[in-house]
Amino acid sequence: MRNAGLNVLYLSGINNNVMKVSVYLFLFVFTGLNLHAEDGHDLWLRNKSSGHVNVECSGNSPTLSIAIQELQQGWQGADNAKVVLIVKKDKSIKYDGFKISRDGIQANTDLGILYGVYELLRHQQTGESVEVMISNPSYEVRVLNHWDNPDGTIERGYAGHSIFWRKGDSSLVVTESDKLLWQQYARANASVGINGSVLNNVNASPLMLTKEYLEKVKAIAEVLRPYGIKTYLSVKFSSPSLTGGLKTSDPLDPEVIKWWKNKVKEIYSIIPDFGGFLVKASSEGQPGPQDYGRSHADGANMLADALKPFGGIVMWRAFVYSPNDKDRARQAYIEFVPLDGQFHDNVIIQVKNGPVDFQPREPFSPLFGAMKKTSVMAELQITQEYLGQSVHLVFLATMWEECLQSDTYQEGTGSTVARCTDGSIYPQKHTAIAGVANTGLDTNWCGHHFAQANWYAFGRLAWNNGLTSEKIADEWIKLTFSPVTPQQKETAGSSSDWAEHFLIPVKQMMLQSREAAINYMMPLGFHHLFAANEHYGPGPWWAPKRVRQDWTPPYYHRADTTGVGFDRTRSGSDAVSQYHEPLGSQFNDPQTCPEEYLLWFHHLPWDYKMKSGRTLWDEICYHYDTGLQQVRGFQKTWDKVEPFVDPERFTHVQSKLRSQCINAQVWKDACLLYFQQFSRKPIPYDIERPVYDLDEMIKTDMRRL
Ligand code: GCU
Repeated sequence: MRNAGLNVLYLSGINNNVMKVSVYLFLFVFTGLNLHAEDGHDLWLRNKSSGHVNVECSGNSPTLSIAIQELQQGWQGADNAKVVLIVKKDKSIKYDGFKISRDGIQANTDLGILYGVYELLRHQQTGESVEVMISNPSYEVRVLNHWDNPDGTIERGYAGHSIFWRKGDSSLVVTESDKLLWQQYARANASVGINGSVLNNVNASPLMLTKEYLEKVKAIAEVLRPYGIKTYLSVKFSSPSLTGGLKTSDPLDPEVIKWWKNKVKEIYSIIPDFGGFLVKASSEGQPGPQDYGRSHADGANMLADALKPFGGIVMWRAFVYSPNDKDRARQAYIEFVPLDGQFHDNVIIQVKNGPVDFQPREPFSPLFGAMKKTSVMAELQITQEYLGQSVHLVFLATMWEECLQSDTYQEGTGSTVARCTDGSIYPQKHTAIAGVANTGLDTNWCGHHFAQANWYAFGRLAWNNGLTSEKIADEWIKLTFSPVTPQQKETAGSSSDWAEHFLIPVKQMMLQSREAAINYMMPLGFHHLFAANEHYGPGPWWAPKRVRQDWTPPYYHRADTTGVGFDRTRSGSDAVSQYHEPLGSQFNDPQTCPEEYLLWFHHLPWDYKMKSGRTLWDEICYHYDTGLQQVRGFQKTWDKVEPFVDPERFTHVQSKLRSQCINAQVWKDACLLYFQQFSRKPIPYDIERPVYDLDEMIKTDMRRL
C-alpha cells in the first residue's frame, strides 16, 4: 500500500556540495526510472496502432489529414485492412454526423469523417463491434464555457491557470508550446464531439474585444479550426461605453447598435468562422439591458442582429435573480417566460440545469419546456464548484443524465429536458448545450484524474443525450486505464481478470460517487449549505450581516426548532406552480414529493415520518453517515485495484480519496452538530460519533471572512 509522502528528501545537516550532488543524483535516478511516468496528460487518448491500415480518402483538407493520421496511429482492427473515407451528402446524416459501414466512413462534412474515425477507434479499443451505424449529434452546438480571465486566473477553476490567457509582458505572445497545448486540447474535444469553446469568463472583461486580444483569439482559432472547434467570446454588455467611448450601452440606442455592428464586422474580418457571443447580463451585478429599462429580449436581439449576417449566434444566460424576490429559485422563470416568442431565431437562452446554481442535487429548471417559441439550451457545470472541486471523486454523468431524462410534461408524457432542448419537440432554429470547463494548466488537465471523466462525459452526452452514465463510465475506464505496457498486461492477467478486478469495481465507484457526495453534503433536498464564497466546505451557519441573504445557507435551509427546509409549496413561495402538472401537485405534497427533493420544496418538522418509518431527523443523520461510509468504501475499492494501475495515478487518486474522506467527515459532523441545535434530538447511536467540534469549525470558517 503506497504512501504518498515517501519521496520527501530530508537534507538538513548535509553540507552544500554534498547536497547538490545528492539532488542531481536523485533527479537523474528519479527521471531515469520515470521516463514514462504516467501523468495523465494523455487523457482517454492512449490507443496505439497494432497493425497497418490502408486509408482511401475522397478529399483533401486539414481535418481529413487529421482523420487519416488518427486512423493510422490508433488502428486496432485487422492488419492491412482498407478503410474508405467519403464525404458525400446523405439525408440520413445530420449536421456533422456520420455513417460507419464495413467499407469505411461516410459523412456530409470533413468534420463528420473525423468524428466517425474517433467513433471507430473507440469501438476498437473498447472491444465493441461495429457493423453498420449512423450517428447524428443531439445538438448542433456542443460548447465548452471557459470561465478564464485575461490575467490567466479561472473563476471556479481547480486545475491551474488558463491554457489560453496569462498575465505579464508576454500575455499576448503565442509560443510553440501554447500551440501544442491548444492542439492537444482541440483533439481531446473533437474526440468526444465538442465543437465550440467560449474562451473567456461569463463575468467578461471588456478587454476581450480589443484588437490585441482579438489577434490572440485568431491564433487560438487557427489551432482549433482543423478539429472543428469554433471559437466564441463572452462579452460585457457595457462594452460600448467602457471601451467604445459612448455615453451609453442602451441596446436601443442607434450609436450602440452601430458600435456592436462594427465590432462584429471587425471580429469576422479576423476570425471568419467565429461562433458568436455568450452573455451574462443583468445578472449578479453584471451590466445589462435592464440598466436602461430594456428587456432581455431587447439586449439579446440587438447582439443577434449584429451577428446574423455572419451566421453567428447569441447564447443569452438566464442565470438571473434579485435579492428582493422571496425565492431565488423562481426568478429566472418569472423574468424569461413572459418574453417567450420575442427572441430572434439566432438567440438561444442558456439555462443552468437547476433553478438555483449547480447544487449537488436540484430539480430541473422549470424553464425547460416552458419556453415554447424560443431556443433553450442547458448549461451544465463540468468544473466541480459545488462538488468537491478537484479533490473529491465525483462522476457527474449521473447528475446530467438525471436532468436530461427528467420529464417536464410540457407537451405530454415524455417531454424530457433532453427532448425540450434538442429540437425533437419545439421547432428550434438552433440547438445547443454548454458545459463549464474544468481544464487548466495542470499536467493532467483537470486536477483529479477522475475529473477527466467529467469532461469526457459532457462531450459524449452533448453528442448523444440518450447515453447512459453506465455506458460512458465503461468507455472512459477502458480508454483511460486499459493495461498498455507489457508489465501492466502481465499483472492484469486475462481481460476478464481486468474486467472483474478493475473495470467493474471502479465503474461502480464512479456511478455511486455523486449520490455519495449528496449524502455527505446535502441529502434530501438540502442545498447551498456551503461555507463562505469558496463553495467547498460546510457552513450551514454562515450568514455574515453584510452579505445578502440569498447568498447565505440559512436562507436555503430555514432550520429552526419547528423544522427544516424551504417552503416552496402553494402556501409558501409557490415555486411548485412553475412546474407543469402533474409535477406541480406532486412536488406540492410532501407525501408524493420524491424524498430526494423533500427539503427543497418543504419545511417539515424534525419528527416528520419518512417512507422508511424513521423521523426526518434520523433520516438526515443516516444519509450523512451513509455518505461518509461510501467514501470509505471508495478508498477500499481503490486500494484493491493497485496492481492494475500505474503507480503515479494510483498514488495520486489514493491521496485525493484520503482527503475526500476527511472532508466527508467534516461535512457530516458540521451539518449534524449544527442542525442538532434545532432538532434537539440525539444522533442515532448506531452511527459513527462526530469527531470534530462545532464551535471550532464555526470559528475557523468565520476567520476566513
Ligand atoms: C455561480 C458561481 C460564480 C459564477 C456564476 C455564474 O454563482 O459561483 O462564480 O459567476 O455562478 O454562473 O454566472
